[in-house]
Amino acid sequence: MKKLEVGILGATGMVGQRLVSLLENHPWFELKWLAASDKSAGKPYAEACHWRLRVPMPKAARDLMVHECQPGHAPQLLFASLDAKVAGTVERDFARSGHVVVSNSSSHRMDADVPLLIPEVNPDHLALVRTQRQQRNWKGMIVTNPNCTTVGLVMSLAPLDRAFGLEKVLMTSLQAVSGAGYPGVPALDILGNVIPYIHNEEEKVESEAQKLLGKLADGRIKAGTFVVSAHCNRVLVEDGHTESVSVALKSKASLEDITETWRKFRSVPQELGLPSAPQHPIVVRDENDRPQPKFDVETERGMATVVGRLRPCSVLQFKYTALSHNTIRGAAGAALLNAELMKAEGYLD
Ligand SMILES: NC(=O)c1ccc[n+]([C@@H]2O[C@H](COP(=O)([O-])OP(=O)(O)OC[C@H]3O[C@@H](n4cnc5c(N)ncnc54)[C@H](OP(=O)(O)O)[C@@H]3O)[C@@H](O)[C@H]2O)c1
Repeated sequence: MKKLEVGILGATGMVGQRLVSLLENHPWFELKWLAASDKSAGKPYAEACHWRLRVPMPKAARDLMVHECQPGHAPQLLFASLDAKVAGTVERDFARSGHVVVSNSSSHRMDADVPLLIPEVNPDHLALVRTQRQQRNWKGMIVTNPNCTTVGLVMSLAPLDRAFGLEKVLMTSLQAVSGAGYPGVPALDILGNVIPYIHNEEEKVESEAQKLLGKLADGRIKAGTFVVSAHCNRVLVEDGHTESVSVALKSKASLEDITETWRKFRSVPQELGLPSAPQHPIVVRDENDRPQPKFDVETERGMATVVGRLRPCSVLQFKYTALSHNTIRGAAGAALLNAELMKAEGYLD
C-alpha cells in the first residue's frame, strides 16, 4: 500500500513531538510537512524544535522545513496540536480549504457537528462528519479526540455503561506536568506541591464524557444522561494522568462482573487491527498499589488505560484507580488512532 502523506500543525510542541515520534515508520502514513508559529517557521525542524522526548528525534523529521500555519501546500491529512489560543481559527481555515484536520485541541470538540472520538468507545460518531460537511459546505473536515483526562476515565467507564448503565461518576485526577505543554507549569510552582486547579479542565471532562457516551441519531449526538463531577489537580509527575473514580450503576454488578467486563473489553480498533490499537484497551492490575505512572504508563506503548484497586464505595457503589498516558493515549496516539479508523473506514479516500 502506498503511504498517505501527512502533516502536523503545531509540530514543535509536546504533543507535536509525540506525533513526529509515533509517525516514524508508521505503516500507513508518511510525515512530509510540518508547521508551527512564526517563531519556528522558516527553520529546519531540528533547529526550531526543543526536543523533549527520551527517544531521539526521527532522522526523517530533522531536515523538514517548518512552515507557517497557512493552507496551500500542505498534505490533505493534517494532525493538529496547536496552542488553544489559535487552534480554533487555524483548524477551521484548513478544513474549509479541503484538509482533513485530526485535532487534539479543545476548540471544536463540543461543536454539535464535530465528532469527538475514542475509536474503542464511539466509532459510529465518525459519521457526524457528513452533517458537518453538509452544514458548513466544506470539502475538508475536523475530527477531534478528547482531553487527556477524559480519555482514561471514559475508556474505563464505556464497557460498564454498555453492560450495566451509568448513573453517577465522581473523579479526582492527579495530572502530569507534561499535560500543560512546554515549558508548562513553572518549576517553582509545582516542586513539592499540588495545584488544585487546571483552567477549564473539570468542565471539559464532565461535558466530553457525556458527548462520548451519547448516542448518534438523525445527524446529532444525544448526550449521555449520567452525572459526572470532576476534581482536577496538577502533580509533580512527568507523564501519566492518574484518576480516582467512584461510580454508581443503573443495574446491579459485583466486583467480579466489573473486572470481567474490563478484561473482556475489545472494540472496533482491535477487530480492524489498526496499527496503533492496543491489544487490550483496558489492562487490569491486581496488586493493591497499582497502577502507578512510574511503572505502568507505557503499558501497550502508552495506548492502554490501566485500572486497579477496584473495591466497594460507601458513598456510590464502587471505586477504582485508572491511569493513562496523557501525551500518547490522551493526545498524539489518540489522534493517530482516529486517523487510522478514518482510513480503514474509507473517510480518507
Ligand atoms: N500536553 C497534553 O498532554 C495534551 C493532551 C491533550 C490535548 N492537548 C492539546 O493539544 C494542543 C497542543 O498541546 P501541547 O501540550 O503540545 O502544547 P505546546 O507544547 O505549548 O505546543 C503548542 C504548539 O502550538 C504552536 N503555536 C503556538 N502559537 C502559535 C501560533 N500563533 N500559530 C501557530 N502555531 C502556534 C507552537 O509552535 P512554536 O513552538 O513555534 O511556538 C507549538 O508547536 C493544545 O491545544 C492542548 O490543549 C495537550
